[in-house]
Amino acid sequence: MRPQESRDPFAERAGWFDRHYDDSVRGRVRLRVLREQLKRELPSPPANVLDAGCGPGRMAAALAADGHRLTLLDPSEAMLERAMMVMDPHAEGSRVLRGTVEEAPALLGRDVFDAVLLHAVVCYVEDLDAALDGAAAVLRPSGVLSVVFKNRDALPFRHVAEGRIEEALRVLDDPLDAGNLSIVNRARSRQEVEEALARKGLRPRKAYGVRAFADFVREEPSEPDLERLVSLELRTSEREPYRSVSRLLHLVCGRG
Ligand SMILES: C[S@@+](CC[C@H](N)C(=O)[O-])C[C@H]1O[C@@H](n2cnc3c(N)ncnc32)[C@H](O)[C@@H]1O
Repeated sequence: MRPQESRDPFAERAGWFDRHYDDSVRGRVRLRVLREQLKRELPSPPANVLDAGCGPGRMAAALAADGHRLTLLDPSEAMLERAMMVMDPHAEGSRVLRGTVEEAPALLGRDVFDAVLLHAVVCYVEDLDAALDGAAAVLRPSGVLSVVFKNRDALPFRHVAEGRIEEALRVLDDPLDAGNLSIVNRARSRQEVEEALARKGLRPRKAYGVRAFADFVREEPSEPDLERLVSLELRTSEREPYRSVSRLLHLVCGRG
């Protein structure tokens, strides 16, 4: 499997990705669980927060509603169009820019943000170190970096659950996979990301799992069951073995 060559691989999929936060169990659970974790880990509002690779801006809008000042950055025009719509009610005190995380220091300056989010972005970059360099450079010395990435160790589970046993075997030794977005991307191990963070002087203060269970729900749950699923995810997000086999890992990092 080869990474996508197209200039903006998200041009065709931005709408689908945006809607999955409303329509799918995995999208709804992901937003709820990550938002809860960020409430615990981010500085109190109003903090200056950069959402690097903001996509359709759903998390940024949630944080702006909590009182944070948001900067949204993404290279995809299609994603930014959606981000601008969702940020419209929070336009005062927020800004939306086109660019990559690697370009962030040149676009935004160094040591400027109390928190930087890098959510589901490092699976789309070839050079993990360059992406983390960009995020680290714009972070204040006391700032918090929140990195969410596709967990390499969990890749086979969804293939098995959806009947693709051959794919489950393949991804044991190949971190390139396509997922529901149909855009080839690279899952990473916790160790690989922690080693790269250490090279930037960043250390995880907390490690959470996200979606240990949500991807296995086959029928639309009732609202009470969705609440129970969110509780299950929150209660297991720091508990082994669930964290280590969650679809996503969330590292909350600081310096020193
Ligand atoms: C799967 S979406 C995630 C969006 C959002 N962070 C979220 O969690 O909903 C991945 C996003 O990363 C963006 N992206 C890809 N390469 C990037 C880079 N080098 N720097 C910043 N963003 C990038 C894409 O344009 C896309 O919007």
